[in-house]
Amino acid sequence: MNVTLRTPRFILRQPQVGDAEAIARYLNDFEVAGNLARVPFPYHLSDARAWLRTRLPNLPLEETNFAIDLPDSGMVGQVGFHRGPDGPIIGYWLGRPFWGRGIMTEAVAASLDWLFSASDIPAVYSGVFHFNAASLAIQTKLGFTQTGRSTLLCLARGAEVEHIDTIMTRERFQQKWQPVLRPGNATR
Ligand SMILES: CC(C)(COP(=O)(O)OP(=O)(O)OC[C@H]1O[C@@H](n2cnc3c(N)ncnc32)[C@H](O)[C@@H]1OP(=O)(O)O)[C@@H](O)C(=O)NCCC(=O)NCCS
Repeated sequence: MNVTLRTPRFILRQPQVGDAEAIARYLNDFEVAGNLARVPFPYHLSDARAWLRTRLPNLPLEETNFAIDLPDSGMVGQVGFHRGPDGPIIGYWLGRPFWGRGIMTEAVAASLDWLFSASDIPAVYSGVFHFNAASLAIQTKLGFTQTGRSTLLCLARGAEVEHIDTIMTRERFQQKWQPVLRPGNATR
């Protein structure tokens, strides 16, 4: 899916080969990788290049990934979807220098808005490792609901970690965010 989204402060665009250095720089940080399930640590340039090779054109909607591209700083993080057992799972990370400015709240809201508008997918799944207060704050603010606890392998830690499981339904997202993100549009 070749799509570019514009938010008030940045663009969300498809990852490209030239992002490898920035991805490796920001993901080779245990404070980032240690909060993600599928990112090894240390994280090398070769890991970023290998991941970028998987970003084939024409991937299905629920495997779309966006690079967060700021006007002055370029690619600073990612938000994207991958397939889970019940439906798409959303995951995200931001380079540490850019934390605490509301960037990820804006990026996740825009990505969900796009996915729910472009499809009939009824719900998106997510969650956080139990110690990830910042990510849980984002999901709570956006309106994700906690559905339970599980354990999930964290590659960077080499261990199973307790995970708070969450869900965002189409209905809940559109009720809460459509008036903000798409004033004037009726809920589909
Ligand atoms: C989690 C992460 C994406 C947050 O990105 P960000 O752009 O800084 O997030 P935002 O600024 O949009 O929102 C963060 C929220 O968490 C809150 N927060 C930050 N640290 C917190 C803490 N220790 N305890 C509680 N809340 C915290 C902030 O106050 C903010 O909420 P607010 O807007 O209501 O004040 C970023 O820290 C990151 O990439 N971390 C490593 C990877 C990761 O955790 N990915 C998610 C895996 S589930």
